[in-house]
Amino acid sequence: MMTQQISPITLQVELGERSYPIVIGQTLLSDADLVGRHVVGKRVAVVTNTTVGPLYLDRLSQALAKAGKQVTSIVLPDGEEEKNWASLMRVFDALLEQKCDRKTTLVALGGGVIGDLTGFAAATYMRGVPFIQVPTTLLAQVDSSVGGKTGINHPLGKNMIGAFYQPQAVIADTTTLDTLPARELSAGLAEVIKHGAIIDAPFFDWIEANIAKLMARDAQTLAYAIQRSCEIKADVVRQDEREGGLRAILNFGHTFGHAIEAGLGYGQWLHGEAVGCGMVMAADLSRRLGFIDAAASERVRALVKAAGLPVVAPDIGAERWLELMQVDKKNEGGQIKFILIKPLGTPVIMPVPQEALLATLKACVQQ
Ligand code: NAD
Ligand code: GLY
Repeated sequence: MMTQQISPITLQVELGERSYPIVIGQTLLSDADLVGRHVVGKRVAVVTNTTVGPLYLDRLSQALAKAGKQVTSIVLPDGEEEKNWASLMRVFDALLEQKCDRKTTLVALGGGVIGDLTGFAAATYMRGVPFIQVPTTLLAQVDSSVGGKTGINHPLGKNMIGAFYQPQAVIADTTTLDTLPARELSAGLAEVIKHGAIIDAPFFDWIEANIAKLMARDAQTLAYAIQRSCEIKADVVRQDEREGGLRAILNFGHTFGHAIEAGLGYGQWLHGEAVGCGMVMAADLSRRLGFIDAAASERVRALVKAAGLPVVAPDIGAERWLELMQVDKKNEGGQIKFILIKPLGTPVIMPVPQEALLATLKACVQQ
């Protein structure tokens, strides 16, 4: 549990007129000055869910009210399977019923599901209203709240409906991680490991050396993992906001992972679990193509395992794997593109020979 006091830090996502701060620190939810500062108008609609709402909605609403804001809240059902059109409509219904105008700021209080959905609602409500990300899962604090990818799932593909839409600010209160279930902590660590594997080999070494402390929720160690992940992601987003090329590297492990999520049905495996296992598969594929050696591939597998994540993929059927991997936003002209590592700490994006892919599926999928 997090007890030491750590000074908040502020990073900047540099995107010209769409630039915004990421504030990382303890007990930020009750900081009226901080949360009020990023709300441009008077009205605020906080979107959360039935799990996070009872834990943190009052705290945040009180801080916003103290800052002089008029607060409405919208509480959605919890779950990846709820990241859909019906939930989006519930948000629009509530905003319209409450007569929220185009100066209303939407605040996403929750994990990546609430963040992605609320961001998309903000991008489209009255053709765009401001929004703030208040991520409460490790995954959302290290990844999904930063960079402006917003959206919902379609039964035929993960995150297929959405928009690039940047928030006004990201406020990551690390104290909220105290209530996060262990399985969700592990899911967040998948994206931390991803950042090391694709872009920063010394950070990968650091995660290996500190995985026990991360799993034990050591406050200082978690704070550094969040900070370094946000720095890495902010830098990639600065260079390629709308994924013309480079940003696709952030999808390391996701081609396989998205197929697992959609193949099993959303909500069966957590997104981070699917990404963790997907990284093991992508490392295996990288080894088969001679980009990394067996020792490096094993390091990825061992670290994913040490983070409490699955390393053997579920059997969804060979044809279904290929079919689902075809529905991926990176693909062009029907060709599946993979993010591979060449070597560990450096990404490469490319299509792969079918034989190598089938060999990876055979080796990594539960028989
Ligand atoms: P989630 O939003 O479903 O949250 C996980 C669970 O933890 C939920 O049950 C939630 O209610 C609960 N929870 C949240 N905060 C809590 C807290 N502090 N204490 C106790 N329980 C808490 O899942 P997630 O892992 O945060 O996000 C996954 C989603 O993020 C996926 O839909 C994925 O596609 C998306 N994602 C988006 C991006 C992006 O760039 N936009 C990047 C990565 C992932
Ligand atoms: N998680 C992938 C991205 O933000 O681009």
